[in-house]
Amino acid sequence: MPLADFLGALKDNPYFGAGFGLVGVGTALALARKGAQVGMVFFRRHYMITLEVPSRDKSYHWLLSWITKHAKHTQHLSVETSYLQHESGRVNTQFDFHPSPGNHIIWYKRKWIRVERTREKQMVDLHTGTPWESVTFTALGRDRDVFFSILREARELALKQEEGRTVMYTAMGAEWRPFGFPRRRRPLRSVVLEHGIAERIVDDVKEFIANPKWYIERGIPYRRGYLLYGPPGCGKSSFITALAGELGYSICLMSLSDRSLSDDRLNHLLSVAPQQSIILLEDVDAAFISRELLPTENPLAYQGMGRLTFSGLLNALDGVASSEARIVFMTTNFIDRLDPALIRPGRVDLKQYVGYCSRWQLAQMYGRFYPGEPAAEGERFAERALAVQPELSAAQVQGHFMLYKMDPAGSIENVEKIEH
Ligand SMILES: Nc1ncnc2c1ncn2[C@@H]1O[C@H](COP(=O)(O)OP(=O)(O)OP(=O)(O)O)[C@@H](O)[C@H]1O
Ligand SMILES: [Mg+2]
Repeated sequence: MPLADFLGALKDNPYFGAGFGLVGVGTALALARKGAQVGMVFFRRHYMITLEVPSRDKSYHWLLSWITKHAKHTQHLSVETSYLQHESGRVNTQFDFHPSPGNHIIWYKRKWIRVERTREKQMVDLHTGTPWESVTFTALGRDRDVFFSILREARELALKQEEGRTVMYTAMGAEWRPFGFPRRRRPLRSVVLEHGIAERIVDDVKEFIANPKWYIERGIPYRRGYLLYGPPGCGKSSFITALAGELGYSICLMSLSDRSLSDDRLNHLLSVAPQQSIILLEDVDAAFISRELLPTENPLAYQGMGRLTFSGLLNALDGVASSEARIVFMTTNFIDRLDPALIRPGRVDLKQYVGYCSRWQLAQMYGRFYPGEPAAEGERFAERALAVQPELSAAQVQGHFMLYKMDPAGSIENVEKIEH
């Protein structure tokens, strides 16, 4: 190799180049940049601490609420709307604000913490069909305690929100997600059912929960099914919500007419339902009618989407065996439309008719709504109401009282105006 070429090669090599005093300005800059990079990596490795929480993790949603609370000044929010349509057409929506994807800086325990929420555009969580997300916390120093303390706080915050409240879950893909904020518990006595009915169900459920041994010793799956049936607006759903509150249970609301529900998915969902929860299948009669549409009327079925079959439902109900108490409530307006196989003992152990208001119920409701009034007034209301309309739902009666909030006598005088 000629000497000139050899020197040229050396010049390109920064280490030798520097040694030979041949280094150019460009090389020096490159060196400095490299040095800075190495330094940054070193610094990150030794003086910064990060925690990544993927969206699959249980604590992810707690942390989002925690961030929202702490990043008070952030102006970049994203909204998460929960939307739920019941078979009856009723729609519930709820808006939750969360910090939007990007960086947020939080001052916490005399430390600056950078929070980065990232959302992968290309990656989708196959289980839930939602974009893959994570939050990463970065703090200076080597002290992990700050993260533990954030996680602890986030959990406490979440539990406090749930205290005295009933958490509603809905199925998202293969897992259960809380739906909206936990609702304030509804007191059981606020739902007035016919004399003795509420007690009958509450006693049955409590006895069931208290006696796992009985089932295990006999090799009987530890689950119990309930069916509430009767006309609309008489308190089936309200009672189940209040019962969950009374037990301190959450509710897993499942719509059988959800077209993306397949046998496998239902089976899986029932087996991974959160502990201490009631599985609620509303309007079970509607599930299969809407599914039997011709393929032309029901395009999704035509596309060959996995569908829930009736035998799939039965298998899923039979299969929910766990050491945890498994409580399934079903409701329907039309018990005679249900296949007897669905409501045979073992699948439905207790059936209860929840019907129009009896005289006793009407008097009770009057007493609850107007606590200061003498009992005789309640009787008078009940008698007159039934004379006007023998089939009154509790929802109608409640609506009527609302019009006479401050006027108990008026609610009796105008009883014939009860909305039909
Ligand atoms: N027995 C009751 N005591 C007090 N309030 C009631 C009672 N029944 C119904 N309501 C009130 O009426 C409304 C509708 O009741 P709910 O949704 O529980 O009826 P449902 O029986 O589930 O009807 P559907 O068959 O249409 O689902 C609720 O706001 C509830 O507060
Ligand atoms: Mg209902």
